[in-house]
Amino acid sequence: MIIGIPREVLAGERRVALVPDAVKSLVGQGLEVLVQSGAGEESGFPDAVYEDAGARMAGEAAQVLGGADIVLKVQPPQALRDGTHEVDLITEGAALICLLKPLDMPELATRLANRRISAFSMEFMPRITRAQSMDALSSQSNLAGYEAVLLAAAALPRILPMMVTAAGTLKPSRALIIGAGVAGLQALGTAKRLGAVTYAYDTRPVVKEQVESLGARFVELDLDTGAAEDAGGYATAQSEEFYQRQRELLGEHVALSDIVITTALVPGQAAPLLIEESAVQAMRPGSVIVDLAAEKGGNCALTQADQVIKVHGVTIMGHTNLPSMVPAHASQLYAKNLTTFLDHLLEEGQLKIDLEDEITSGTLVAHEGQVVNERIRALIEGAGSGD
Ligand code: NAI
Repeated sequence: MIIGIPREVLAGERRVALVPDAVKSLVGQGLEVLVQSGAGEESGFPDAVYEDAGARMAGEAAQVLGGADIVLKVQPPQALRDGTHEVDLITEGAALICLLKPLDMPELATRLANRRISAFSMEFMPRITRAQSMDALSSQSNLAGYEAVLLAAAALPRILPMMVTAAGTLKPSRALIIGAGVAGLQALGTAKRLGAVTYAYDTRPVVKEQVESLGARFVELDLDTGAAEDAGGYATAQSEEFYQRQRELLGEHVALSDIVITTALVPGQAAPLLIEESAVQAMRPGSVIVDLAAEKGGNCALTQADQVIKVHGVTIMGHTNLPSMVPAHASQLYAKNLTTFLDHLLEEGQLKIDLEDEITSGTLVAHEGQVVNERIRALIEGAGSGD
């Protein structure tokens, strides 16, 4: 069984699917690992370290993609500079495991199915206890929440902690986190450690306790959040009236904050609009908004994906790939997610796709020439019928 690790090609992607320690562990289990030269360079892992870990190196993407039984990637496969497409370079019938973005790019699932590739989407990892160590969205969101606070702190013209000096006392900065999921809770903890006074709001009332356990205050809004959580623990979509009221009520809290970090998202939907331009205008000049939902349109009306802009004196950051800013640690955690998942999928060194298993069937998007995930199939059929 050969595991292939190509170099990531998406602009700005600095992570690598397997770090050398993970390679070493797979090689120790009797697997062969084929790594494209330079794959770990941006994460701080030169080729020599992979070789020491037991990997075989190859110069070209085609050699790795075409030579592997299972390809591990960070980003979904895409076109290479020479015009070839990564999907077409993967051996027919091989497997692919990556952050496939199937809800955003359902057509890629068809392309993979047409080449009889068994494609797994790490985004579809069920949030169940058994799969916690395979949950790449959580591992990467954790780092994004941390990084968001550092970016905000660096851009803010103030410091975060209270400071008593001979020249006077500096008030602590106030940070508001909207959406206290994995990214939000990490942002809260990080802002608190740096000395900010922290507040958080979430439509799922169950997170109040978690917020308070991190030393933050939970913002109570006069909103009926009765059915805010689905059976999987994810937020449910609310009505436009709800969001309208939420924007009005949140506005005053946003205005009082030096840092606002937004992470609110309902899976598979555009990000809910939670901060209007008028709320930004009411913030103190120099304040910072980091909008982690930028890729899905943003929680702030002014956010521009992958841009840092200044409007009404407020810096608004729309980075869409914060984990890639800390690629060594992001890759380390992602590699652990992948190797644990691989361990789950392999039986005596061979890939065994057990469709009865919740983790396997939940993540499998294309298999044996078919798009097997119903949600993705519905999206493809919807697009095909012009809906
Ligand atoms: P999560 O699902 O754990 O958390 C999202 C939270 O938002 C949930 O607690 C949910 O209840 C809450 N929420 C939903 N609607 C809300 C509303 N109207 N008001 C207040 N809260 C609301 O997701 P996770 O893993 O923490 O990720 C959060 C976001 O960050 C996602 O949008 C994810 O795509 C994004 N992300 C962005 C990165 C970047 O580099 N920009 C990197 C990693 C994640």
